Amino acid sequence: MPDFDKVTLLVGDSATELEIVASTQGHSGLDISKLMAATGLSSFDPAFVNTASTKSAITYIDGDQGILRYRGYPIEQVAELKSFTETSYLLIYGAFPTATELTDFEKKISVRTEHIQQLDGFFRSFPKDAHPMAVLSAAVSALSTFYPETLDPGSEAAIEESTLRLLAMVPVVTAYAHKASIGEDFVAPRPELSMVDNFLNMTFGSNEIPFEQNLIVSKALDTLLLLHADHEQNCSTSTVRLVGSSQANLYASVSAGVNALSGPLHGGANEAVIEMLELINKTSETVETYVERVKNKEDNVRLMGFGHRVYKSFDPRAKIVKATADQVLSELGVTDPLLAVAKQLEAIALADDYFVSRKLYPNVDFYTGVIYKALGFPPKMFTPLFAIGRMPGWIAHWREMNSEANTRISRPQQVYIGEAERSI
Ligand code: CMC
Repeated sequence: MPDFDKVTLLVGDSATELEIVASTQGHSGLDISKLMAATGLSSFDPAFVNTASTKSAITYIDGDQGILRYRGYPIEQVAELKSFTETSYLLIYGAFPTATELTDFEKKISVRTEHIQQLDGFFRSFPKDAHPMAVLSAAVSALSTFYPETLDPGSEAAIEESTLRLLAMVPVVTAYAHKASIGEDFVAPRPELSMVDNFLNMTFGSNEIPFEQNLIVSKALDTLLLLHADHEQNCSTSTVRLVGSSQANLYASVSAGVNALSGPLHGGANEAVIEMLELINKTSETVETYVERVKNKEDNVRLMGFGHRVYKSFDPRAKIVKATADQVLSELGVTDPLLAVAKQLEAIALADDYFVSRKLYPNVDFYTGVIYKALGFPPKMFTPLFAIGRMPGWIAHWREMNSEANTRISRPQQVYIGEAERSI
């Protein structure tokens, strides 16, 4: 919090006082809501680099110190001590569940998983090589048509029901998008399994031969989902809030979030990282030649999985993911040359002035693909896995936005640079 509570803005001879919006941690904000009316000027902040679009009590990031906290709890503690389901509950309801609350929550989710037979044709109707992110976003939108009683953003009961439906059904439709892409039958959900084991069974099992549960695989996937569960006002979460501000229902808002996440600068980076590592591993490209191409900005090539808008010293999630990659591959007895390539790339980049001077460090996506691959997922499924992980964060933000009395429809301004009026 700065030691002043107002800023005076001088436009010509006219002074306007702007109030400070106090944070509990990190940077406070400058309230410019009076700016247009008082000065006739809008603020201009491409890509919202300096703009806080909301107050929020869900997640705190200090990008200089590499700090990430869910509802105040450091990500390192959450990853070590809690499950993805407990974390989802924390993000959505504000506190970790008691043992009874957790059992109740798990049950409420598992009884809401179902194989919607009417959607079978929908999943089969896409081209064979359809990207599962496109199918997922369409499927999440389609879910709203099956639960019409859960759509009203003004009803607390409807919001609660759509929350539980999404937590239950997004893993189901993700698994079905995968099954359709490999031409296999859909596997019915098994409510007696945990969320992660149920998802693994629907993805890798069949109706005849269930997926053999493997604690290492389940734990690794649970940890990765939890590490992706929220990241405050990132591109997809801001999209979810923006769409929701029009009072679009939760499914429609979250479906838009899936699309925002799909881009390679956001969640799509995890798939792009594996493609980059494969390129280096399988072609004449080497770590050194690739880094040179990145530095020369040839064809806009970037070191995927590196850099972050907020983190400027390290991404705390990446530290945990890197340690998890070593542990999981060793526990599963997998040797993947791509892990060695990734480590080599990281070492070279961290010692190179191009990356050091721009404060570019590995982000959460740098090592996740190597783990997902070791767990048996094809690269196209990496970003859908991110979407399953981010679901509780999107839901928590949509609910926070929707519960605030003063939420108005989001509607940015522009600085018009086109023609003045002219005649045809
Ligand atoms: N490789 C090479 N150069 C980079 C990279 C990179 N990965 N990231 C940023 N730069 C350079 C960029 O070219 C620019 O250089 P210059 O000052 O010479 O013009 C400078 O660093 C600043 O980059 P920026 O694009 O203005 O930074 P940003 O804050 O707008 O973008 C980012 C952040 C994450 C989109 C970017 O770092 C990036 O493209 N990274 C690779 C994609 C990636 O890994 N995305 C996952 C992000 S973490 C998970 C998630 O949010 O989903």
